[in-house]
Amino acid sequence: MNISTLNTSTSNTLKLNATIDRTDEPLEFDGPTRLRVVAYPTNEPVTGRTMLQAQGLHKTYKKNRVSVPVLKGVDFAAQQGKITAIIGQSGSGKSTLLHLLATLDRPDQGEVHFDGHRIDHLSRRSRDHFRNQRLGMIFQFYHLLPELSTLENVLAPIMIGRSALSYLMNRRSIHNHAKELIDRVGLGHRLHHKPSELSGGEMQRTAIARALVTNPDILLADEPTGNLDQETGAGILDILKELNREQGLTIVMVTHDESIAKKCDAVVRLSKGRVESVA
Ligand SMILES: Nc1ncnc2c1ncn2[C@@H]1O[C@H](COP(=O)(O)OP(=O)(O)OP(=O)(O)O)[C@@H](O)[C@H]1O
Ligand SMILES: [Mg+2]
Repeated sequence: MNISTLNTSTSNTLKLNATIDRTDEPLEFDGPTRLRVVAYPTNEPVTGRTMLQAQGLHKTYKKNRVSVPVLKGVDFAAQQGKITAIIGQSGSGKSTLLHLLATLDRPDQGEVHFDGHRIDHLSRRSRDHFRNQRLGMIFQFYHLLPELSTLENVLAPIMIGRSALSYLMNRRSIHNHAKELIDRVGLGHRLHHKPSELSGGEMQRTAIARALVTNPDILLADEPTGNLDQETGAGILDILKELNREQGLTIVMVTHDESIAKKCDAVVRLSKGRVESVA
């Protein structure tokens, strides 16, 4: 990359004039403030890059001195702008793999890379920061906070990720953004309901809005249609496909439903802790 001018000012703005070769790797600048710029080679297509990748993942749980080997050397790759399904029988290690990819847990062996950077070995704090800023997660059992309303649950990641001052200064636009997302998943009429007052499908849709509120680069979804009837599940899938098509959102989705996997761009099949096939 050739940088012709680089000016910083006291108001934390940074002006960069540069030409970037097609062959350049993405570049990151981490300034003293929270400012973060990632530059990509200008002529490269946005899709087709490997966004999330894992190599040789091993994970064994230990319970009452009994070892349960769950992942036994799993490789995985998700391309930017695509929907990748992880499919396999109950107990095959799908949620375990998703949690390692999301840095919620660490592998015993192997590595996870996001956008070319290794992430599995980062400190807990850096992993928390990474998840809050770059990744949206939909859990198999929603994990909504029971005391909070739909709107408050959706706002939670922003309140965690920002300082109180930044939140207060941008409160109106943050709330509008959260409400737009809640509308998008069809829950505009349930803003002030608590999870116990929502149906399963409504809780799932709240979890989708919460996962998207920070504008993540990638969405990891664990059986987003698993606990729902066919029609509601199809509606959830439509929302995810729409987000993928319209915003180019990269999605990794765990499912045990072959008909859903068929609608995805790529399918990674897990069996007994190993990748059986990639299609
Ligand atoms: N924290 C844990 N401690 C001990 N064993 C665990 C733990 N988490 C998962 N396991 C075991 O690991 C295996 C894989 O679990 P995992 O949740 O990854 O499966 P899964 O493919 O997501 O299944 P399902 O489709 O039922 O959600 C299971 O046999 C489970 O009992
Ligand atoms: Mg699971």
